[in-house]
Amino acid sequence: MADVTNVGVFTSGGDAPGMNAAIRAVVRTAVARGIGVTGIIRGYTGLIAGDFMNLDVSSVSNIIQLGGTILKTSRSAAFREADGRAEAARKLADAGVDALIGIGGDGTFRGLLDLSNEHGVPVVGVPGTIDNDIVGTDDTIGFDTAVNTALESIDKIRDTADSHDRIFFIEVMGRYCGAIALEVGLAGGAEEIAVPEVVLDIDQTCSILAEGKKRGKTSFIVVVAEGAYEGGAIAFAAAVRERTGYDYRVSIVGHVQRGGSPTSFDRTLASRMGYAAVEATVSGASAQMVGIVCNETVLVPLADVCSHRKEIDLELLRVARLITG
Ligand code: F6P
Repeated sequence: MADVTNVGVFTSGGDAPGMNAAIRAVVRTAVARGIGVTGIIRGYTGLIAGDFMNLDVSSVSNIIQLGGTILKTSRSAAFREADGRAEAARKLADAGVDALIGIGGDGTFRGLLDLSNEHGVPVVGVPGTIDNDIVGTDDTIGFDTAVNTALESIDKIRDTADSHDRIFFIEVMGRYCGAIALEVGLAGGAEEIAVPEVVLDIDQTCSILAEGKKRGKTSFIVVVAEGAYEGGAIAFAAAVRERTGYDYRVSIVGHVQRGGSPTSFDRTLASRMGYAAVEATVSGASAQMVGIVCNETVLVPLADVCSHRKEIDLELLRVARLITG
């Protein structure tokens, strides 16, 4: 058991629906264990600046259903420098914060690991990113909500695509990871799915469209992860038209995927992970990430999380392509 009297909590990197539910679970679990909670505003930016606030049970009332993060977030260049991290460690010591819980993605975890290695601060990470690109957990907080948000758009676009006999290229988020594209592509019945993990074969996309047309199909949905092709869906669609002459429309779902009320799945995931992060901190764990694998809560060393990139399930891509009409 570690002697923790005050735990700091912050969100960092791209926000994700469910982060508030995680903050709530951290605060409520800590308070139930007699531990004080310091909220750090705007992630590592606030950590360096000492922008802290006290969080109690009522600070997190009525937030479980809210998208965004009440603690705000940022991406901090200063924290990537050793001087910035030393300043952050000083600010934590001055405020009497003896352990830190960071909610975010791979950049957040790299920061936590550096702080732990260089200054001995006990740290635990909670995976919160719409990208679901973190190893050591089946799901990250926010992914399910983002997928459902994108899917709602795709379903609506399919209506108009069908009415006008059109090809639509729909761009979803994911600069380096195609998890959102793969899931919404499969669930939305897309005719083609482009992900950053697989080198794009434009000729193959052209022949999927041409063969579909030959079979009498009149409308098509091509889901494109933003990082699947340089220039995103706009450039990809233009390249297809150059080869085929087909008319098309492009729709970019964009940051709408990062907002909105979290799904039941994300609220539950976030509540379980926030609770587990405090329990791990109290039991003396450090430089670990909380994950949920096959419905079991696990702790994974941050060093492992930071040194591996999660792979998408290419079998799902194959299935999606096989069962599209
Ligand atoms: O990491 C989450 C994410 O939404 C990615 O899917 C996307 O590539 C990126 O953040 C966008 O970042 P920003 O909000 O800085 O444009």
